[in-house]
Amino acid sequence: MRAYWVVALCAVGCGGSDDEPPPFTDVGGTLLVPQCGYTVTSRLGAEPPRKAIDFVGPDPTPRLVHLGIMGDPQTSMVVQWRTVDETTRVTEIRYARGADLTAEALTETADGIEFGYEATGTKIYRVHQVHLCDLEPGTTYSYQVGSKDHFSPVYSFRTAPDIAATPDAEVVFGFLGDSRDGYDIWAQLTAQVQQRTPDLVLFSGDAVTIGITQEEWEEFFGRAEPLLARVPIVFAHGNHEVNATPYYAQFAMPGDQQNFGFDYGHAHITVANDTPDDIGALTGSIVDFLREDFEASKDARWKLLMHHQPMWSASNHGSNLTLQQHWQPVVDQYHIDLVLNGHEHEFEITKPMIGQTPQASTENATVYVVAGGAGAELYDNGSDFWTQYSEKTHNAAVIRVRRDQLTLEAFRPDGTMIPAGLTKTKP
Ligand SMILES: [Fe+2]
Repeated sequence: MRAYWVVALCAVGCGGSDDEPPPFTDVGGTLLVPQCGYTVTSRLGAEPPRKAIDFVGPDPTPRLVHLGIMGDPQTSMVVQWRTVDETTRVTEIRYARGADLTAEALTETADGIEFGYEATGTKIYRVHQVHLCDLEPGTTYSYQVGSKDHFSPVYSFRTAPDIAATPDAEVVFGFLGDSRDGYDIWAQLTAQVQQRTPDLVLFSGDAVTIGITQEEWEEFFGRAEPLLARVPIVFAHGNHEVNATPYYAQFAMPGDQQNFGFDYGHAHITVANDTPDDIGALTGSIVDFLREDFEASKDARWKLLMHHQPMWSASNHGSNLTLQQHWQPVVDQYHIDLVLNGHEHEFEITKPMIGQTPQASTENATVYVVAGGAGAELYDNGSDFWTQYSEKTHNAAVIRVRRDQLTLEAFRPDGTMIPAGLTKTKP
């Protein structure tokens, strides 16, 4: 392993020495991360990302440490946090291969990038990111972040397995959504998920009541830090995030962080934003994206789609008929195994569906699951011709994927099991 520097991509007007950051501009800039093969770009409203320098402000204590994925999850990890004061720019990680190591054993170091964003009360919050891209597949690392005398606790994470080398590897996904304004329940459920040793957390949107409100993001990340500092989170944008800058600033995900796909173990996971700034994209460019991503991954053993608003629901909002009309035909065409949703504050699982018709078998059919009970005030559940089971309860789920089998089981905050789930096998 080796440490690296994130290099500024200075197409125009950088000037100065290598250690001099590019100037701020009114709109987002771009940093190339050569070792990772991708760029980091901030959205309108955030400062352009820039290479960190050795400057320590009055309180550089790391807060809200959490993990993300922008590259291949077999070999890369993004470690992200913010500092208490917004002037601290130093961004360091100490890490080493091995689980639960002592701080003294973290012999590798790397530096990263930082940028600020504006949230509630026009206050600037400073994000720090380290992008590690030369990791070993299926391997546990220990790390801590911060600077000088202000380092975080030591956490451990695990990279995704290389299924070519270990075809029998199983991966585990925690699945939750709709924590907004219910962070005691959120803390309970993330602890329940952590007990089930996930590799990845899938969150189906609506973490906060409104995306600009930093106080709620502090609760979301802070209450779940024991999980999110050890397991990367992938997030589908929900209507309550309102495409706000603090939402995009606080997550590290592939592409534009809205519509993307990636492989993890034997699963291909597609994520889509069903409340984009341009609502016309729902029936246009996002349908095109789904078709292209599903086509590119058509040989994947297991195919999962995560977005926020369910195509099939008998709860408060009911089925999203726009998505059902424009997205489901593509889901059916490519035989997506499992669609993951939130938006409805309950648990709900459909019968296997093709078009408008429930199927007796899961073969070539799609099961739709709402796990929108990670803290928000509950809605009444319901039942209709597509319903396999629904329950008015706070909940989370765990999905286990191996080459020949996918299972989903759901549970309540006290850990008791919801009596419905999914077991699907393939030869
Ligand atoms: Fe929602």
